[in-house]
Amino acid sequence: MTVSIQHEGEIAVVTVDNPPVNALGQTLRQGLWDAVGTLDADASVRAVVLICAGRTFIAGADVTEFGKPPVPPHLPDLVDRLEQAVKPWVAAIHGSALGGGFEVAMGCRFRVALDSASVGLPEVTLGIVPGASGTVRTPRLAGVEAAVELVTTGRPFKAAKALSLGLVDAVVTGDLRAEAVAFARTALTQPLPQPISARPVTSPDAGWWEEQRKAIAKRAKGEIAPLRALDCLRMAAEKPFSDAMAHERATFLELRASNQAAALRYIFFAERGAPKPAHLGDAKPRNIRSAAVIGGGTMGAGIAAALRDAGLPVILIERDDEAVQRGLANLRSIFDGAVKRGKLTEAQAGARMDGVTAGSDYALLSDTDLVIEAVFEDLTVKRAVFAQLGQTCRADAILATNTSYLDPRLIAEGLPRPDRFIGLHFFSPANVMKLLEIVPTPATSPETLATGFALARTLGKIPVQAGICDGFIGNRILKRYRAEAETLVRRGSPIAAIDAAMRAYGFAMGPFEAQDLGGLDIAFLQREGARASGQDVAETLGDILVRAGRKGQKTGGGWYDYAPGDRSPKPSESTANLLAEQISTGPALTPEDIATRLTKAMADEGRAILAEGIALKPSDIDLVEVHGYGYPRWRGGPMFAAG
Ligand code: 3HC
Ligand code: NAI
Repeated sequence: MTVSIQHEGEIAVVTVDNPPVNALGQTLRQGLWDAVGTLDADASVRAVVLICAGRTFIAGADVTEFGKPPVPPHLPDLVDRLEQAVKPWVAAIHGSALGGGFEVAMGCRFRVALDSASVGLPEVTLGIVPGASGTVRTPRLAGVEAAVELVTTGRPFKAAKALSLGLVDAVVTGDLRAEAVAFARTALTQPLPQPISARPVTSPDAGWWEEQRKAIAKRAKGEIAPLRALDCLRMAAEKPFSDAMAHERATFLELRASNQAAALRYIFFAERGAPKPAHLGDAKPRNIRSAAVIGGGTMGAGIAAALRDAGLPVILIERDDEAVQRGLANLRSIFDGAVKRGKLTEAQAGARMDGVTAGSDYALLSDTDLVIEAVFEDLTVKRAVFAQLGQTCRADAILATNTSYLDPRLIAEGLPRPDRFIGLHFFSPANVMKLLEIVPTPATSPETLATGFALARTLGKIPVQAGICDGFIGNRILKRYRAEAETLVRRGSPIAAIDAAMRAYGFAMGPFEAQDLGGLDIAFLQREGARASGQDVAETLGDILVRAGRKGQKTGGGWYDYAPGDRSPKPSESTANLLAEQISTGPALTPEDIATRLTKAMADEGRAILAEGIALKPSDIDLVEVHGYGYPRWRGGPMFAAG
């Protein structure tokens, strides 16, 4: 039964059971609709507790219904019906009350939440606005400021914050059902509060709304839903309830049919499918209770931080005592940064460091379940590391490399039990970036592969399987993207115009400013290495700049010039002079032309990658671009955008 009713004396308990997340599909909406009628007609009932079975309270509308015509009872009508019920309803919230789930909770007269619960209106993350009074009731419940934050960011609030803002009436621990029933009994002894729709709301002045608009537009970078949500909220603060409801509904239906919403829904489901690809079958992941990282540089420290954040004890191995201390300092500075940003307390940062054992002796690894190598990008160095790992680690320990470009098969050569070897390609900063490329070799066992996917889940990462080629999925597409951007420069497009066009498309940075930030020398050295090994690698414009000492921000200039202490790029005369001979005049391109050219190049490379079996499906490529390279999520990624 999706909706069932039990009685505890004069309190009825309505239980929703619609796995996996109690989404508000038609059957559930109908079940709740009918329950209101049944309980209003039941003279023995004085109040109703609404509670959910499973891992969460109602997590929202059923997103799978969004492509189809709405079927009654419509959610806004259900929320009104709950509010108008003769018997007061109490929402008992565990897990997350999200979107339509929180709107249902706002239809109830009271909201009681477990201390571990959260509430939110994440609709903008799906390219829509709340469609069942979220923008209209929230300001009446918790004031305009809280409503604007909740709705326009889409980020949920934890129970304690929700309580302080008035979004919930009580936070409880222990047995939610018993606590909610007790709450309902007490509530019946007092006059009932007004239903939310009848409560007053005070609008801030026009200047405040303008400030919000500017701040949100800057953040949204072309995404339309957050601004449209702000319009709905302003309407709710300034106009009668019914006018605001009509406006919200019209906006919801319009955006639900938009390309941006389609793209965001696609990414939503791609993300959820990523950790469990069908081809893993029933391969069982190994249980990982401890992990080690070899190399405490940029990547090693970041990976160690990610492992510690997930609660795993970590062993960090470096070359010698001095390097061990540097590695530990790198790791500490990551946690110190988290403390500065308010993400960790001092005590938590201390505990993160306490869980790290560091040294240069591989004997420390004799009982570790998983080892991730992140030493210099040099085949000889990496092979030497794996030779030692082969001797010191347990025969069943999973051994992984974080190489960016080297062939994992060559790294693993000579390793005893190569079935437990795998590529785990993290992105910098490794404790922040969500993408994890998982690169099996032909010898990698299904169990090892499944462990890679399970590890991603433990670390909160999005796993994407990649085959072996130069750059795997992400860096290979990056190379093509940069090459195409250079082609446009050669044909006369200004560097700054290309960057501006890609920002306008939705990237945080254009291709050239991004290279200046990361340093042009990394890709240069890689090309030089390939040339040295006899490969025919054409001279790039970047090579010319690096040879002239222009490696990016760190040398005061790359594609652009930088004043000391200033990260804002200035068009560079030196760069123009260095490249002058390479540049001819081509047709003038609009920003849209530029973005189309560059994103098409990415999609073309993506198609080649699919044809070669390097990526298993188009959505994997899109996840790589969105989570590893800043492709605007609301565009769905290059493959989705190419149609
Ligand atoms: N509709 C349909 N299916 C949903 C869903 C939804 N709203 N939310 C989650 N699911 C599905 C997932 O696709 C996944 O399916 P699968 O097992 O077949 O892959 C399954 O439920 C479990 O999801 P997760 O793996 O994400 O489970 P977690 O336990 O990690 O997280 C959660 C639970 C926090 C509830 C998370 O699923 C989530 O954030 N869901 C989305 C919530 C949301 O965006 N709600 C707003 C919807 S829009 C709306 O309500 C409009 C309204 O205003 C009219
Ligand atoms: P880095 O130079 O910052 O760090 C490498 C560390 O490895 C140094 O601290 C060094 O002392 C240590 N090291 C070298 N040989 C060692 C050995 N034999 N035993 C123990 N430690 C040893 O380099 P970075 O950037 O962290 O890169 C590491 C690996 O990660 C490379 O393979 C690189 O291609 C890959 N990678 C780098 C990314 C980046 O953005 N920097 C992104 C993804 C992967």
